[in-house]
Amino acid sequence: MTPLAATTTINIVSMTTDQLLHHVRAFRWDDKATAEGITAAAADDGRHVEVPTFINEFWTSRQRAAHSLHEVSYRACFKPQLPRFFIDRLTEPGDVVYDPFSGRGTTPLEAALAGRSAVACDINPLTAVLLAPRLAPPRLEEVRLRLATVDVGRRIDLPEDHLVFYHRDTLQEICALREYLLQQERDGTLDDVDRWIRMVAVNRLTGHSPGFFSVYTLPPNQATSVQAQRKINAARSQTPPRRDVVALILRKTKALLKHCDAPTRTALAASRRVAQLMTRPADSTPDILSASVDLVVTSPPFLNVVNYKIDNWMRCWFCGIDPGTVHLTNGAGLADWQRDMTRVFRELHRVLKPGGSVAFEVGEVRGGSIKLEDAVVPAGIDAGLEAVLVLINAQVFTKTANIWGVDNNTLGTNSNRIVVFTKR
Ligand SMILES: C[S@@+](CC[C@H](N)C(=O)[O-])C[C@H]1O[C@@H](n2cnc3c(N)ncnc32)[C@H](O)[C@@H]1O
Repeated sequence: MTPLAATTTINIVSMTTDQLLHHVRAFRWDDKATAEGITAAAADDGRHVEVPTFINEFWTSRQRAAHSLHEVSYRACFKPQLPRFFIDRLTEPGDVVYDPFSGRGTTPLEAALAGRSAVACDINPLTAVLLAPRLAPPRLEEVRLRLATVDVGRRIDLPEDHLVFYHRDTLQEICALREYLLQQERDGTLDDVDRWIRMVAVNRLTGHSPGFFSVYTLPPNQATSVQAQRKINAARSQTPPRRDVVALILRKTKALLKHCDAPTRTALAASRRVAQLMTRPADSTPDILSASVDLVVTSPPFLNVVNYKIDNWMRCWFCGIDPGTVHLTNGAGLADWQRDMTRVFRELHRVLKPGGSVAFEVGEVRGGSIKLEDAVVPAGIDAGLEAVLVLINAQVFTKTANIWGVDNNTLGTNSNRIVVFTKR
C-alpha cells in the first residue's frame, strides 16, 4: 500500500454516523477484517444500552504521513491520523470541526489542512501559543530576517536557577528573546512571525537531545524542577553546553515548514479567516453559536493527576503566564470525572448542528482496569446525545488477542478507544 502524502484528502462522500457504522463494519486493512463486539452501559435513567464496538487498524502511520506542521510536543496528544479519519468521513470542505480540549491543536490543525473551519478551546493558555502560529505559518526567510532584528546579546538580569538547564550565554539569548517577545505583546505589536518564533522557542526550551536549548533533561513535554535537574546533572556528570538559540529556532522552523507547499498555504489561509481559538473551560463556551458545529473530535483529560504548575513552569515563564491561574480538570475519581464530562457533553449538544457528531477518544487508564468508554457512553446519553458506535484502533491487533478482556492491556498505548455520538 502506498502511503498518502500529508495534504492528500481522500474522496469519501460525507457519511452519516449510521453509514459510518456500516463502513467500519466492512473496513479491511492489510486483509484484516474488523472484529465486532458490544460495549454495555447503564444510562442514568436506568436504561441498559448496548453500543456496537469495532476493532481494527483503522489508521496507521503507514496510511498517511502526518503533516510536518504537527511536529510539536504536547502531553497526551493524539496522532493527526485519528481526527483525519473522522474529518474525512463525517464532514465536507467548509464544515465546522471543533475540539473542546484541543491541546497542541491536532484536530483544529488537521481540520484546517483539510479545508474545514477550525474551532479550538482549551483551558491551558499555552495551547493558543502553540496552535495560532501554525495556522498562519511564515516563510523561513521571514523568520530569519525577524530574528536578525532581535538583539539576543543584550545584557539583562538572568534567573540564576535556570543555569542548571542552560549555559550562561544560552540563557542570555533565551532571556533577551523572551524580553523582546513580551515587549511586543505589551505594545500590541506581536505579529504572526513573532508568534511563530515564540511557538518554536517554547518547543525548544528543554529536551533530551542537542536540538533543544537545554542540557539533557526530560522530554520536552515534561519539564522537571530545578532540584530534580541538579540530580540529573550530577548522575550524568553533565554541565549545560553552549547552544545557539537562533540557529536552533531556524532549524526547527525548517523542519516544521517541510510540507508547507502551496496547497497547504491556500487551505490554511482560507480556514484562518473563520477559525475560532478560545482559552476557556470546555463546559462553558458562549462564543460558539448554538447549532453551529458539524463534528467534534476530542480527547479529554483522563483520570491522571497532572500537576500543571510542575509540568509547565518553564514554558509559562517564557510566555509570561502565571501557572497558578490555570485550573485543569483533574478527575479525582471516576464519578467526578463522569459528572465533569456530562457537563461538557451538554455544552457539545448545544453547539452541535442536528445530525452533527462527536468522536470522543478515551484511553485505558489505571493499567487497563478502567475502560473510560463505559463512563463516557452514559455521560453522552445523559446530555441528550445518541451513542452510535465505539471504535477501537488497535495497531498490534491479532486475531488471537483477547480483545474484550484484560489481555487487551497488551495493546497498551497503541490503542485508541473512541465513542461516536450523534445529535439526532
Ligand atoms: C488529552 S489532552 C488533549 C490533547 C489533544 N488531543 C492533542 O492532540 O494535543 C487534554 C487537554 O484538556 C485540557 N483541559 C483540561 N481541563 C480542561 C477544561 N476544564 N476545559 C478545557 N480544556 C481542559 C488540557 O489542558 C489538555 O490540553
